[in-house]
Amino acid sequence: MSSRISSGLYDHMFRYIIVGDMGVGKSCLLLQFTDHKFRHQHQLTIGVEFGGKTIDVKNKSIKIQIWDTAGQEAYQSITRTYYKGAIGALLVYDITKHDSFDNINKWIKEIKTHGSKDLCCMLIGNKKDLEEQRQVKYEEGKELAEQNKYLFLETSAKTAENVQEAFIKSAEKILEQIEKSGIDPTLPSKNVKITIDDDTENNNEEKKTCC
Ligand code: GTP
Ligand code: MG
Repeated sequence: MSSRISSGLYDHMFRYIIVGDMGVGKSCLLLQFTDHKFRHQHQLTIGVEFGGKTIDVKNKSIKIQIWDTAGQEAYQSITRTYYKGAIGALLVYDITKHDSFDNINKWIKEIKTHGSKDLCCMLIGNKKDLEEQRQVKYEEGKELAEQNKYLFLETSAKTAENVQEAFIKSAEKILEQIEKSGIDPTLPSKNVKITIDDDTENNNEEKKTCC
């Protein structure tokens, strides 16, 4: 662990939003990323939940704040209000439910309509451990991601396969965008800012529910 992380300092803070149909495993991905835990039962997310963690990416300390949204239609107007503040988006489907993959187009539309134009998106096919129940081929996911110039990974929130990688690869791409475009990272309107963390006790981080 870098001394900057252990002392509570970080170079950038990236806000991510996780979207996708109900039950695809969004909250489990977050829990696996932040706490290395898996929850067997489906606890419906109400509105939006928050989680976060600071990681090292390309020799930089990146504080990642994550908004885990409800897949349920009823909460969409609430979750939309969070899109604008995000620089990273994970669009999640369940590889054992083709419907959840078909609906990704709906989530892409949501993101394009309500998200920032700088949003860095990753398509995620979750529940990779359930290979025998697979309904969505790896190639289908990869193709859709390529069409939209998104990153792509298949993950398992249960076995943890590719979960850390998903967050790290997105952060790497956001860092590259910052370097390439020269976006001023201190501008709050760009959602990427350099800040000194005053909460040194709480590095592995806050988790609370809203709405
Ligand atoms: P909403 O909050 O309702 O939108 O759902 P969600 O997308 O947050 O789903 P959640 O993370 O609560 O997971 C739904 C169910 O899928 C739970 O029973 C999890 O245990 C299960 N699940 C999530 N990820 C995986 C996975 O990678 N593999 C397997 N086998 N089960 C998973
Ligand atoms: Mg959830």
